[in-house]
Amino acid sequence: MARTRLNSGNTPEEDLPTAKINKDSLRKVSALLKYLRPYRWKFIIGMGFLLLSSITALAFPALLGMMIDAAQGKQKYQWVPGNIHIIGFISFGVLFVQLVVSFFRIRLFVEVAEKSLADIRRDTYFKLITLPMTFFSQRRVGELNSRISADLSQIQDTITTTLAELIRQVIVLVGGISFLFVVSTKLTLLNIAVLPLLVVIAVFFGRYIRSLSRQAQDKLAESNIIVEETLQGIANVKAFVNEAYEAYRYDTTLREVVRIALKGANFRGGFASFIIFAIFSAIVGVIWYGSVLVSHGDLTVGNLTTYILYSAFVGAAMGSFPELYANVQKAVGASERVLELLKEKNEPISIKAEENQIKQKIKGDLIFDNIIFAYPTRKEITILNRLSFQVKAGERVAIVGPSGAGKSTIASLILRFYAPQSGQIRFDHQVADQYSLTDIRNQVAIVPQDVLLFGGSILENIAYGCLNATYEEVMAAAKRANAHQFIIGFPEGYNTLVGERGIKLSGGQRQRIAIARALLKNPVILILDEATSSLDSESERLVQEALEELMKGRTSIIIAHRLSTIRQADKIIVLEKGELIEMGTHQELMQHEKGLYRYLSGLQTST
Ligand SMILES: Nc1ncnc2c1ncn2[C@@H]1O[C@H](COP(=O)(O)OP(=O)(O)O)[C@@H](O)[C@H]1O
Ligand SMILES: [Mg+2]
Repeated sequence: MARTRLNSGNTPEEDLPTAKINKDSLRKVSALLKYLRPYRWKFIIGMGFLLLSSITALAFPALLGMMIDAAQGKQKYQWVPGNIHIIGFISFGVLFVQLVVSFFRIRLFVEVAEKSLADIRRDTYFKLITLPMTFFSQRRVGELNSRISADLSQIQDTITTTLAELIRQVIVLVGGISFLFVVSTKLTLLNIAVLPLLVVIAVFFGRYIRSLSRQAQDKLAESNIIVEETLQGIANVKAFVNEAYEAYRYDTTLREVVRIALKGANFRGGFASFIIFAIFSAIVGVIWYGSVLVSHGDLTVGNLTTYILYSAFVGAAMGSFPELYANVQKAVGASERVLELLKEKNEPISIKAEENQIKQKIKGDLIFDNIIFAYPTRKEITILNRLSFQVKAGERVAIVGPSGAGKSTIASLILRFYAPQSGQIRFDHQVADQYSLTDIRNQVAIVPQDVLLFGGSILENIAYGCLNATYEEVMAAAKRANAHQFIIGFPEGYNTLVGERGIKLSGGQRQRIAIARALLKNPVILILDEATSSLDSESERLVQEALEELMKGRTSIIIAHRLSTIRQADKIIVLEKGELIEMGTHQELMQHEKGLYRYLSGLQTST
């Protein structure tokens, strides 16, 4: 089961919730194995190399023991060569094999992991961007981001290192213990007698210490949130002279962090010294009892050396399991979350670029017929209530109303980001469902209030409206959008980089780039969602001109805040709390003495 924790303060990897490993979760996770399929031969060969490298590692203690025995002329077995140099050469031979084998093992595993992970990443990303808007309104972007980065990295680490390491340690453990028995049954039985006790103590302590350190981490995250909040709202903190209060708040959580950490320190210290004591006791015990056996002639010095080395191998293997297990747990959790995402149902959008063509042309008539709509995340709140209106092809219709009335929601419905609960949207008198999403979205364009430019050149950003537009076409669109002048004012012209790493454009400039983009797209239906409301009057004039150019010959839905910009509209729809309360031309609406439009209009002209 996934455990959620506070997110601040830790690196994403540390933050990954773990999962219980059981039959059910493993069966689910095995669905990811299909991504290994294309590379299965490389994976299998890598496994072979892994096996070889583990076996060669296991050969060393035996070889070294033999060498020591050979030095004393005391071989136990007939078939062992008596010559020290021969054993030495064999050892180097084994070393050489290991050298080659280790290289290929790592090389192959990394290749398999990189390639299969790239496939998973590709599929996950594709899935993500084709999911319906409903999905995105239920998740935070940060969470989705961590699916692609932290979760997938965890899976990748597991395939490249953890899995190989786990298999290797299992081989070393099983092989090592078998060899221990072969070398000296008596000694091994002694060891095994005390082992379970050690394991129980280690597991118990380990768990407790981990839970304490988790508590400390959570507390630390809490204190980091205080820092974050106060820094973000520093003006508030200062204006209210609350520095002392915040410092006190921070100090309190810090003390708590220290208290928990110190509590952990007692256990940690006790645990560490116990482990050190146990390890050295084991060494002393083995050598002690081993020496007794050697003095009785039951064991050679070489055997004892071999034995000690194998014990070290086995001990190290055992010691590595808790961490490896924790890693596998994290990877299972990560895989479950990624698989969940891959199972989501995406929008029926054509995936191939060459299929992205308009099949069913729309002329531009638009009808909202008795639309009732609530967002899927807040089903109980009706946003649009029995909304009906009609726009003829080429008409300009303005939608006005207080903020929160549902204006932008209308835009989302036209783009089919969401489907209404009841009622119908019709394009050219045909129900919207009869068009493919691709057809609708290719023929509707929106210019929003806040234009997002992608990291890239201005040229690329304008061409986003029509990916195969030529340079000349882009430039023509920019000219019509009043953008050409300011673009060529930059030293690099159309190749100027914008976005996070590029230059920062003003609101009006970004707006005109968006208009050029829409001009290139050449939509039948155009939606302007408060396109000019955040601009100063100078850029508003330039943008307004560009918008006039853009609206020519198309059905235009103008969502406006400033009523001065929509006087010319063929029809004005006044919306309040999701209901249409007035409709008509500017002149008609102004005649309603008590109308909302006249009231809003009065408010705006008086300021
Ligand atoms: N994605 C969403 N999920 C849930 N509620 C939303 C979402 N978007 C907008 N709303 C709610 O719908 C109502 C109308 O919003 P909106 O259409 O953006 O209003 P307007 O554009 O007229 O200011 C608001 O109450 C808003 O809180
Ligand atoms: Mg809005």
